[in-house]
Amino acid sequence: MTDEKNPLGLKKIHHVEFYVGNAKQAEFYYRKAFGFSRVAYSGLETGNRETASYVMRQNRVNFVLTTPLTPEHDAAEHIKQHGDGVRDIAFLVEDADHAFNEAVKRGAKPHIEPHEWSDENGSVRKAAIHTYGDTIHSFLSYGRKSSAESLNDSGLTTPSAEAADTPPSKGGEPGYSGPFLPGFTEQIVEGDEVGIVLVDHIVGNVELGKMNFWCDFYRDVMGFERYITFDDKDISTEYSALMSIVMSDGGHNIKFPINEPAEGKGGKSQIQEYIDFYRSAGAQHVALLCKDVRETVAKLQANGVEFLRVPDTYYDELPSRVGEIDEDVEELKRLGILVDRDDEGYLLQIFTKPVEDRPTVFYEILQRKGCKGFGKGNFKALFVSIEEEQRRRGNL
Ligand code: FE2
Repeated sequence: MTDEKNPLGLKKIHHVEFYVGNAKQAEFYYRKAFGFSRVAYSGLETGNRETASYVMRQNRVNFVLTTPLTPEHDAAEHIKQHGDGVRDIAFLVEDADHAFNEAVKRGAKPHIEPHEWSDENGSVRKAAIHTYGDTIHSFLSYGRKSSAESLNDSGLTTPSAEAADTPPSKGGEPGYSGPFLPGFTEQIVEGDEVGIVLVDHIVGNVELGKMNFWCDFYRDVMGFERYITFDDKDISTEYSALMSIVMSDGGHNIKFPINEPAEGKGGKSQIQEYIDFYRSAGAQHVALLCKDVRETVAKLQANGVEFLRVPDTYYDELPSRVGEIDEDVEELKRLGILVDRDDEGYLLQIFTKPVEDRPTVFYEILQRKGCKGFGKGNFKALFVSIEEEQRRRGNL
């Protein structure tokens, strides 16, 4: 329901769309390395003359990998500027027209006006606004009559009695029965899932001095609040300083940390390295929540995904820093998994190396055991490791 705390009527992240240079090969990587299944496709064979798009799904995570088929398409310019990267963090909303109109009224820059998007399976309302860099937020809504649906505490949508009269569609949404969105045809190629369940947070890197601007954007336009703030005392090593504020919706279901570079002691911040190579602000990492991080990381490593490693001495200090944990420290050390604790519990996390040749987008794999934080206690060890990578790239 739309109210002061959720003025746009956001329900959840519907999908994340990447613009990539070769979607066919990216699909193979996300399926074979990350264990996603291909569930839908749009391209020449389905009458799409503009792009080829593959929908990759693992539990509640939907990624769309899109490549342009002509140099005139927007995606071609996006790839020229940024390399492969996140174009769209798309939201499922109660009413796309309302979300768009309210966002624009609150100061968002419009990208796509609300319109009907339909095929033989039904129709969806779609609109989009700009956020940092060339990144957009699409708003998607199904069956406009079902706006009585609301977010419950766990962030799951609870259909109203009214909406329950609508038979559940194949896509799980009232008013649209296709496999994903209009224009997509079902095309299933099963991946060997690794236990990735949900997008936990998506971090944006913005230009020096712009962190507060974008935090205000998420507050004023989207109705988010400041969740956690990190300053350079928390996250500064010899070189790689940064500042970060975590913005979140009222229910803490959608979390967007915003980073900006800070002055290090003579070297280049890892955030500045990203911005130099991405050529603008953009999404830095997508954090993927999993059921058992040890199992997931072991599978990802066996599949060839490359992770950042911290020095082994990190594990000598671990028991005194985080206290008792259920997991065997030797096993965590072997896998390279990091641990951090807050008042409410602990989390286990690990970061991949960038998944493109440009040092830009990477992934975090994490498991939360009560902890609501982001691994502040690991920043120092991690950043020493990131600086080592930067040094090897000649970017420090
Ligand atoms: Fe993160």
